[in-house]
Amino acid sequence: MAKESKARSRVAIIMGSQSDWEVMQVAEKTLADLEIESDARVISAHRTPERLTRFLATAEDDGIEVIIAAAGHAAHLAGVTAAHTLLPVLGVPLPSSDLNGMDALLATVQMPGGIPVATLSIGRAGAKNAALFAAAILALSDSAVRERLEKYREAQSAGVPERPY
Ligand code: RP5
Repeated sequence: MAKESKARSRVAIIMGSQSDWEVMQVAEKTLADLEIESDARVISAHRTPERLTRFLATAEDDGIEVIIAAAGHAAHLAGVTAAHTLLPVLGVPLPSSDLNGMDALLATVQMPGGIPVATLSIGRAGAKNAALFAAAILALSDSAVRERLEKYREAQSAGVPERPY
């Protein structure tokens, strides 16, 4: 059954296709590890343009503070999203095409001046870093998130062995 939208979510994770979820669940999990509620939705700028319009019309009032927008191929989702909102939009290019995400990377990162999309790396690393970037934005005004982010960094550093053998 489809997951109901949650008004308390502070981060929206939107993606162009259900096939993107395999990668984008990394973003949801990373946010969950930081105890940040997120709302994942399939919204395509070209297949479901009205769904995108509806989502953006209420996103801010619904409590969304950051939007992570992920898409593959000619990935215009993040750019179109950014054009319709003042919320920060973090773009994740996905490697779903024969060009392994290079097309999506360029489409997402090469926004003309005026409408910014903060673009992360292609695929899983980008999904993870988009979540961490969203957390960093929330941490500017939320000391509890900041503390959890600090602990996350500490645990990450502690997990790196001194020697490779
Ligand atoms: C993009 O096209 C989506 O973001 C997805 O990465 C890609 C392929 O979508 P499907 O054909 O698998 O639905 O719009």
